[in-house]
Amino acid sequence: MTVLAIESSCDETAASVCRDGKILSNIIASQKVHEQYGGVVPELASRAHMQHIVPVVDQAMKTAGVPLDELDAIAFTQAPGLIGALLVGAQFARSLALALNKPLIPVHHMQAHVLANLIEEPSPSFPYLCLTVSGGHTQIVHCESPAIMKVIGETIDDAAGEAFDKTAKILGLHYPGGPLIDQYAKEGNPKAFKFPEPQIPGLDFSFSGLKTAILYFLQEHTRENPDFVKDRLSDICASVQQRIITILLNKLKKAAIETGITEICLAGGVSANSGLRKGLTEAGKKYGWKTYYPSLEYCTDNAAMIAITAYYKFIEGDFAGLDITPTARANW
Ligand code: KG4
Ligand code: ZN
Repeated sequence: MTVLAIESSCDETAASVCRDGKILSNIIASQKVHEQYGGVVPELASRAHMQHIVPVVDQAMKTAGVPLDELDAIAFTQAPGLIGALLVGAQFARSLALALNKPLIPVHHMQAHVLANLIEEPSPSFPYLCLTVSGGHTQIVHCESPAIMKVIGETIDDAAGEAFDKTAKILGLHYPGGPLIDQYAKEGNPKAFKFPEPQIPGLDFSFSGLKTAILYFLQEHTRENPDFVKDRLSDICASVQQRIITILLNKLKKAAIETGITEICLAGGVSANSGLRKGLTEAGKKYGWKTYYPSLEYCTDNAAMIAITAYYKFIEGDFAGLDITPTARANW
């Protein structure tokens, strides 16, 4: 079974070919155009997807060494995401499915992040818990099988990636700031400054208070020392990162206790964070969990995760008609 998958939900145009659950190619064109605006501009994203989609798909097919007539299905990200961006991928996938007379497989972007953990060995056994942390989402997902998963905790305001990106913006670092904070944090002391941990009931998260606390903290210190950010950048990044990580891992621990599940994974762009990866491994040793996280290329947005999800949907015969349309928001 060979599937071509397309991802275009935000600012990466991506295509991947997967044969019998094995990824043969994973091509990504990142859109640099948004950097100067400090965030993704939806209209510019749609236009860039239109420019990138044909060369990206072409390269994915060539890298995989698969001719078009060997494809058994075309998959695409159907939701959630920026509607204009999703439409480009959906329209391309529908047209190709029609031209090749092959079935179409719509994929939920967040479910695909969760299943990215199945791309490589060792992979988690079902049931597993997945902490999915990206620029738009922060969720703990109880994953029963590739087709059955449930969100058991999520953010009530900002996502973890937003906490990273907004902190970076306050510190004058360019967008997206998550990877930069990770980089500076490696040279800093995580115990240099203490930021508050929100007291949110259950398995839900909140990050908006942290952003405000950081803003006040910086205002106070720069009043005394105008060069405070410059002088202590690494320590600030390390301390903020440490707080975000403890917020995430404390809830994950709670979820593991409540469900009795000990197979624990990370997913989404923030799971590329080196401190979070290390923190999960250490927590695993402490609490007796088996822990997993995807390779870096499968953490941030990519089409390989769409392809692996489509592979499992193909086995289930879970196809859609050519009239399927993308949606910005989606239920699980
Ligand atoms: O999953 P993703 O690529 O796109 C969304 O679906 O949102 O996640 C992007 C998010 C951004 O907020 C980015 O700053 C964050 O992931 N990110 C990181 C790191 N790499 C990416 N955050 C912290 N540390 C990193 N190394
Ligand atoms: Zn994503």
